[in-house]
Amino acid sequence: MSNYHIKNLEEYFQIYRKSVQNPEAFWEEIAEEHFVWRKRWNSVLSWDFSKPEVKWFEGGQLNITENCIDRHLTTRGDKTALLFEPNDPAESAQHITYMELYRQVNKMANVLKAQGVKKGDRVCIYLPMIPELSYAVLACARIGAVHSVVFAGFSATALATRINDCDAAIVLTADGSFRGSKSIDLKGIVDKALEECPQVTSVLVAQRTSSNIDMKAERDHFMAPLLEAASDECAAEVMDAEDPLFILYTSGSTGKPKGMVHSCAGYMIYAAYTFKNIFQYQEEDVYWCTADIGWITGHSYIVYGPLANGATTLMFEGVPSYPDFGRFWEIVEKHKVNQFYTAPTAIRALAKENISFVEKYDLSSLKVLGTVGEPINEEAWHWYNNNIGKKESPIVDTWWQTETGGIMISPIPYSTPTKPTFATLPFIGIQPALMDEKGEEIKENQVDGRLCIKFPWPSMARTIWGDHERYRQTYFSAYENSYFTGDGASRDAVGYYRITGRVDDVIIVSGHNLGTAPIEDAINEHQGVAESAIVGYPHDIKGNALFGYVILKDEAAKRNPDEMRVEINRLISDKIGPIAKLDIITFVPGLPKTRSGKIMRRILRKIAQKDVSNLGDTSTLLNPEVVASIRDIVGV
Ligand code: WTA
Repeated sequence: MSNYHIKNLEEYFQIYRKSVQNPEAFWEEIAEEHFVWRKRWNSVLSWDFSKPEVKWFEGGQLNITENCIDRHLTTRGDKTALLFEPNDPAESAQHITYMELYRQVNKMANVLKAQGVKKGDRVCIYLPMIPELSYAVLACARIGAVHSVVFAGFSATALATRINDCDAAIVLTADGSFRGSKSIDLKGIVDKALEECPQVTSVLVAQRTSSNIDMKAERDHFMAPLLEAASDECAAEVMDAEDPLFILYTSGSTGKPKGMVHSCAGYMIYAAYTFKNIFQYQEEDVYWCTADIGWITGHSYIVYGPLANGATTLMFEGVPSYPDFGRFWEIVEKHKVNQFYTAPTAIRALAKENISFVEKYDLSSLKVLGTVGEPINEEAWHWYNNNIGKKESPIVDTWWQTETGGIMISPIPYSTPTKPTFATLPFIGIQPALMDEKGEEIKENQVDGRLCIKFPWPSMARTIWGDHERYRQTYFSAYENSYFTGDGASRDAVGYYRITGRVDDVIIVSGHNLGTAPIEDAINEHQGVAESAIVGYPHDIKGNALFGYVILKDEAAKRNPDEMRVEINRLISDKIGPIAKLDIITFVPGLPKTRSGKIMRRILRKIAQKDVSNLGDTSTLLNPEVVASIRDIVGV
């Protein structure tokens, strides 16, 4: 039995037991036998959740790109590493071999060096899903620069905030991006963002749409000629195990995004090990994750996890609805995809369309189906299982977070019996706990609680960039000696976990985490707005949709309400991005508040969900009468 590759349920239980009884010996063996190091570590793990401080493989040295690329060259040099499928199906797919990836990454690394980028510097990457995005990420890792990928759907303001938070002096972008029938002016967004980022001295621009863009002299350079001229050899920087590999921003319950910092060694080991087992990847397989590399799912399961295993990883530029709703399945047939990993929101959207979009294609190559990002409802699970997997490909419902770096709770396909809506069992090395209201761990089964993790795992985020205290506060202060996930969960009679959703002020819309605070901040910037509160309500495709309660100032209240709605959504789109636009905007005379002035979101949530059967005691509110007027306006 190899501890690296779990083949059945019995092995899972055995390996799991080892991994929690003696975590250090367990992870040491995985690290030693399956990765290449420049120098061996002195200690496997040291940790203290009260600080919090977690270190894995301290003293060890390595470079993740040597693990993801160089070591495969002798045996897999001609194997496709990246399989790029363009937005337009008429454009040919690109098969980028490990050898070609090696060259391109080294070229990009040399270009970055020539721009003055050094180990430890932050590089902001704002690129669409084109091969240059993968090259850029890996090139940073090659030279020890810390990449901060910002999803190319974020607005100029959101981009500027992220560039400034980590003080990046260089931005990698493209002229534009293709998204279905649309193209988006990325360079224009970058130009606007950089008006607020005086420290940025260099912008490298990939050409994708060949659109007309402004190039600022000295600052802006096209990537292609620089890459062309650069050497395709670049020695990998030797990194300490705990050096930061990347920063990735996630929404929090206050306005500022949290720059989660991931380490080199622990992240690599856990991303690789989970990938191997949760997708049961075999040497000839073609694996496809539909996420964008701008999210953690893309970092861990398009780039690092697959490449560390020498896999062929498909990267798709487009959207599931272009040129029609059969695109995903067309790609599965065309490239004979074996593992397919997507989000419940995509499944729900496609399930709404005519089944002929699925039936046209041969999906018999599929062996494993995955979901991630939000709870999958039973109906969507069955649709996926029946129509895509034909009841033969197990579904792995994978629960994890930007903060966890890798999948934490998931079935192992062909080993763990699946159960719709349950993420099932903790992955190897993961020690979950459910906590009650008083902060005590609930040991029994068939209970609900708040989901925590009691023991460190290699790929946990080490800090929030520039704000360690916020990291402690957010994740380690609610429960003693435990990492708090922010999610609620239940555990069934056999110990399977079901994630029920966020218990904080984060709302997951179409798989994207959105904090209510930044959206409210954006709305409140409107001159006509006095105050606002955002809550989520169930939506049959997006999972959750956003409901905004807005108090207008007197002058604005006289204006056309639909115009006000358009302006408010435009403002949100500008400040955050179109993904954060509100589905419903209701103008109200006041918001229910506690005597200490806190908005009672629970009540607003119930009203938005049109479930007022159990509003609880409203008499303790500062302004109980406002509840009745809001109900009147909403009509519940
Ligand atoms: C939610 C995405 C239910 C959860 C990798 C978590 C899920 C948040 C699942 C993290 C799942 C993710 N079932 N809920 N399988 N996977 N979530 O940081 O609320 O974008 O806390 O990472 O998504 O979202 P993030």
